Amino acid sequence: MQINENFRNLHESYLFSRIGEAVRAYERENPSKRPIRLSLGDVTRPLAPCVIEAMHGAVDDLSRAETFRGYGPDATVYGYDFLLDAVISHYAKRGVTLSRGEIFISDGAKSDLGNLLDLFERDNTVLVPDPVYPAYTDANLMAGRTVAYAAATPENGFLPVPDGSVAADIIYLCSPNNPTGAVFDRARLQAWVDYANERGAVILFDAAYEMFISDDSLPHSIFEIEGARECAVEICSFSKTAGFTGVRCGYTVVPSCLTRRGFELGRMWRRRQTTKFNGVSYVTQRGAAAAFSARGEREIAENIAYYRENARMISEALSACGIGYVGGVHSPYLWMRCPHGMTSWEFFDYLLEHAEVVGTPGSGFGANGEGYFRLTAFSSHEETAVAMQRLTELLRR
Ligand code: MLT
Repeated sequence: MQINENFRNLHESYLFSRIGEAVRAYERENPSKRPIRLSLGDVTRPLAPCVIEAMHGAVDDLSRAETFRGYGPDATVYGYDFLLDAVISHYAKRGVTLSRGEIFISDGAKSDLGNLLDLFERDNTVLVPDPVYPAYTDANLMAGRTVAYAAATPENGFLPVPDGSVAADIIYLCSPNNPTGAVFDRARLQAWVDYANERGAVILFDAAYEMFISDDSLPHSIFEIEGARECAVEICSFSKTAGFTGVRCGYTVVPSCLTRRGFELGRMWRRRQTTKFNGVSYVTQRGAAAAFSARGEREIAENIAYYRENARMISEALSACGIGYVGGVHSPYLWMRCPHGMTSWEFFDYLLEHAEVVGTPGSGFGANGEGYFRLTAFSSHEETAVAMQRLTELLRR
């Protein structure tokens, strides 16, 4: 038998597993220490009250024969109509018109960002920004695909635009960006859409952090850009917005007019999902739909405002220490320069050892992330305040 040798091209562990292992080792060696984790982008606020109520109601539905749901019809693999309609209304607020058949409910963005590769031949060239969320690169390396990188640097505001140097077939974009927090404006996103349409490439647009955008002139969805329906798939999530990192729910939008070589990508994705996926639980989908109700959006906005306040605290501390950083405005992430010319992992060790604060080494997001470090605003106010006090004391020493 043959094995997938492409796994040799991956790091031994996924970035956030490596960090988890390093922190656990530190805790074993220093049992009295309680490091504060500002590393993984995991939420800490509880679910919104209306989501909890909807999920309780859904559990009650399952307790009665007349409202019980099992597998349901085939369509529940893509999502119940009540949730598809909630997603449609959410997009309509940004002037984007979708139909039910274009939306596919999933267990979160990460799975779909990798699973969508089933639609494409291995020989395609993938273009991934550098630095970026490592799941894109890893999923493609596992499949043996060639990955090219678009450099995201301070010079381009961490927002690369197509420069023609790479003939890309599949392009991953993430806005607001994980890890840098940079957001594409309309002109730059239009440049990618035009490039993809000219080349016949497909953009996989990760919009998981769209609700953190605080300037309404910036696009939340790639479908706000002319021509995007002909070249883009959008992947989104309730994780960071409605606090579903543990509940698990997301959605992928594949426009009905998106075709390549005579194939409708939406039909292919439907075929793939009905074969390899059995849908998201009824209880979860009820909770997700509640998050998009008028009350849900108000309650979610309160949680996002809470995280924004943490981002403000982190920004203030970094500024006070004279450390250069970006992000934290339209994003829960702050992307800081490592002090004293340290590498990303050197600063990870230094911060953990001397301040008991955990962040994410920038080099884990790509070669251009070397010398940078990511902090998240997803902790509690109390922990963020203590972490920033420790960081300030350390860096001012
Ligand atoms: C991150 O910290 O980059 C994300 O939380 C990881 C994820 O969403 O899977």
